[in-house]
Order: sequence, then C-alpha cells, then structure tokens
Amino acid sequence: MDKVIAIDGPSASGKSTLARTLSEKLGIPYINTGSMFRATALAAQKRNIAWDDEKALQDMLRTVTMEYKVNSNGEFELFCDGEFPGEALRSAEIAAGASKVGTCPAVREELKNQQRRMSAIGWIVMEGRDIGTVIFPDAEFKFFITASPLERARRRLAQEGDKAGGTLEEVAAAIAARDEQDSNRAVAPLKPAADAELVDNSNMTLEETFNYIYNKVKDAVL
Ligand code: C5P
Repeated sequence: MDKVIAIDGPSASGKSTLARTLSEKLGIPYINTGSMFRATALAAQKRNIAWDDEKALQDMLRTVTMEYKVNSNGEFELFCDGEFPGEALRSAEIAAGASKVGTCPAVREELKNQQRRMSAIGWIVMEGRDIGTVIFPDAEFKFFITASPLERARRRLAQEGDKAGGTLEEVAAAIAARDEQDSNRAVAPLKPAADAELVDNSNMTLEETFNYIYNKVKDAVL
C-alpha cells in the first residue's frame, strides 16, 4: 500500500481546502496536481503551442521542469522552469486550458510519472481527479469529495469574487461543463475509484468535512 491520502473530486468541491488543512494538521506534504495541468496549459500558451497539440505538448513537457517547493507557510507550491507562476495559474482561461491539456494521454502519462515519484518521501496528501484510480491505485486512503454544481458555484464566487468568471448561474454552468469534459474523457476520467469513500458535502461545512476525514486517517498517519 502507498502512504497516500488520495483526495479526488470535481472542481470547487472543497477538496483543496480539505487537502491543505489535512496536510497542516498531519504535518505531511500536500500536492495539488491540478497545478501541474494548469502549469502545462500556461507553459504551452507562452510557447504558442495549442492545448490540443498532443505531440508538441509531450515534447514541451520533456524540457519543462516542475517541482514543488515549501514556502514560508510550510505549503508546497509549484515552480515551473524555476519560476513561481502563482496567480497566473488561477484564471478561468488557464483552468479551461488545464482541462483541455488533461484530455491528451501523453500529457497525463508524463505528469503521472512525476506524481508517482512524489510518494517516495513518506506520507503525502495528493489531490486531483485520478489519484485513487490511476496515479495511486494502492493508496491507503481514497476519498471522492463532491457537492452539487450550484453549491460549488456559490463557494467559488465566495472565494474568488470577480475572478470566478460570472454570475452564480454562469459559474454553475461553467462548473457543470468542466465536470462533463472531465468525466467523459477517454483517459483517466473523473470518477470515484471502486474502493474510494464518497463524501457529498453539499450540506456540510468545510470544517465538518475536514473533521470527518481527519478522524478516519489520523491514527494511521500520526
Ligand atoms: O483542480 P484544478 O481545478 O486546479 O484542475 C484544473 C483542471 O486540470 C481540471 O479541470 C482537470 O481537467 C485537470 N486535472 C486533471 N487531473 C488531475 C488534476 C487536474 O485532469 N489530477
């Protein structure tokens, strides 16, 4: 079994906050794999490579370095080619690009190899879409976190305000569209692993979600 807490689920389900808090309280690294797909989209944009040009993306990823470094708050942040892309990864445009590049099998294969290497350091919390299904099928813990599109849109607006990209209805529609793209792609679609625990937190606070999961994993990790 791999010493991994796999947190999968759709966007804005609260899984990033959950994974970050688990990492803090357990004192173990937190890897947000979405950043790697976002960084791939951003690096391609800078090089004028189309988000569906699989061959060019694959060649690009062989030269681009991605590494996580710990910042002064103890959080793991992604550096791409030695630079910290920070906020540039958070735009709605780059989110859509991440979803697009994530449909390319060659991109997923490249990133998978990088993600798998990260468990060598001991317990980690890894968050994404296919951690329990593809990256770490033998993870000790697998959770699939979800909530209704409307509730997720509410959270996204509360968190990002103007950057969320529209009204509540528009954001909910964009979230549902991205779910659709992520769930229906041929490679590593967004779906719970057969042995993952499903947590629908539409009617739970993030704190309640955290407490629920923390109690399940703490004895094994601490
Ligand atoms: O989690 P985040 O919203 O940052 O992810 C951005 C996009 O990257 C997702 O919509 C998804 O298409 C893709 N992704 C993925 N597999 C992962 C993480 C993210 O396909 N493990």
